[in-house]
Amino acid sequence: MYRIAVLPGDGIGREIIPVAVHILKRTADLFRLNLQIEYGLISEEAYAREGHPLPPSTLTLCQNSVAVLLGAVGSPEMDRLPPELRPERAALLPLRKELGLYANFRPVKIFPELIPASPLKKEIIENVDLVVIRELTGGLYFGEKSRVKTAEGEEIASDLLAYSTMEIRRILHFAFTVARQRRQKLTSVDKANVLTSSQLWRETAEELSQDYPEVVLEHMYVDNCAMQLVKNPAQFDVIVTENMFGDILTDQASVLNGSLGMLPSASLGGETGLFEPAHGSAPDIAGQDIANPIAAILSTALLFRYSLQHEAAAQAIEAAVARVLAAGYRTPDLYTEGTTRVGTEEMGALVARFLTAG
Ligand code: NAI
Ligand code: MG
Repeated sequence: MYRIAVLPGDGIGREIIPVAVHILKRTADLFRLNLQIEYGLISEEAYAREGHPLPPSTLTLCQNSVAVLLGAVGSPEMDRLPPELRPERAALLPLRKELGLYANFRPVKIFPELIPASPLKKEIIENVDLVVIRELTGGLYFGEKSRVKTAEGEEIASDLLAYSTMEIRRILHFAFTVARQRRQKLTSVDKANVLTSSQLWRETAEELSQDYPEVVLEHMYVDNCAMQLVKNPAQFDVIVTENMFGDILTDQASVLNGSLGMLPSASLGGETGLFEPAHGSAPDIAGQDIANPIAAILSTALLFRYSLQHEAAAQAIEAAVARVLAAGYRTPDLYTEGTTRVGTEEMGALVARFLTAG
């Protein structure tokens, strides 16, 4: 029996997560897996009921589960709270840190049916099959923060970007291992021409590459990488980078597949895995049954693959999504002429209908 913690969170999290849970249960039934699904509060509801966006009960639930399925956090209401109580900083980051999830894994594989939905040309995206590995528990988001007033009445705000050799080594080790099992090319993205932390990052990558002679390591500056991702994304196999660069580059990479609503993610490195779409709570489209649930559904595929080590179940979900897209169904973010527009719930029902064990 596997215990799975489910945290829908805010905004469209409350619409896409019920859909993803339905797929999770159907898949478990198909493969005769016994899941114990337990819901936890995070962000807005948690703050309203327990006084904190990440209550201890939620953290304990996650720590005692084999995997966590998360929607997203963040809402206009929560934005009115002081920075230290906002859910991105008070719930999401501590959850990742407490669970030891230093490696965020975001695969971008093109569904041929979605090529017309991408703003990029077919020739540019048709052969894209890449993974971005983002360091998740260090760097700017976790560094010391301060705001001080000077005698002149000016204010100075700062965020520290610090990485230790240990932090760099473990994420690079993770990335080399992933690259070894794929096309054996690793692009380490940094800004070593100006940042000291990037210089240590690059030196450490060079050193570690001795242990992985079969993997070709290249270095790329982050600004160039941003350009290459839209100019020639098929050149990439595995990209590894620090926390903030990875945050930004993966939103950009999601466009290759037509929408941020297509990009799943797995956060790994601890005993519990955390699975969530790469997008946020999208308050601009919340409550209208138009959010694309596929990123959340594909996140459940990653849950089966990486936390339950069940490749067949993962592939069944991915195949069901591919079949629904091939049959022409699209949520509005992916709609193009000649396709059939469906809402969040209907998209979930279609994926469930196309789900088979073989
Ligand atoms: P966002 O990712 O929520 O939305 C960016 C754009 O993509 C919006 O136009 C949205 O409508 C669209 N979009 C996102 N997911 C979609 C989906 N499944 N289907 C169709 N369209 C989709 O990022 P934004 O707007 O910058 O942030 C909104 C809130 O989410 C903020 O409070 C932010 O802090 C939070 N956030 C939370 C994250 C998390 O919980 N992991 C990650 C990113 C942002
Ligand atoms: Mg982001």
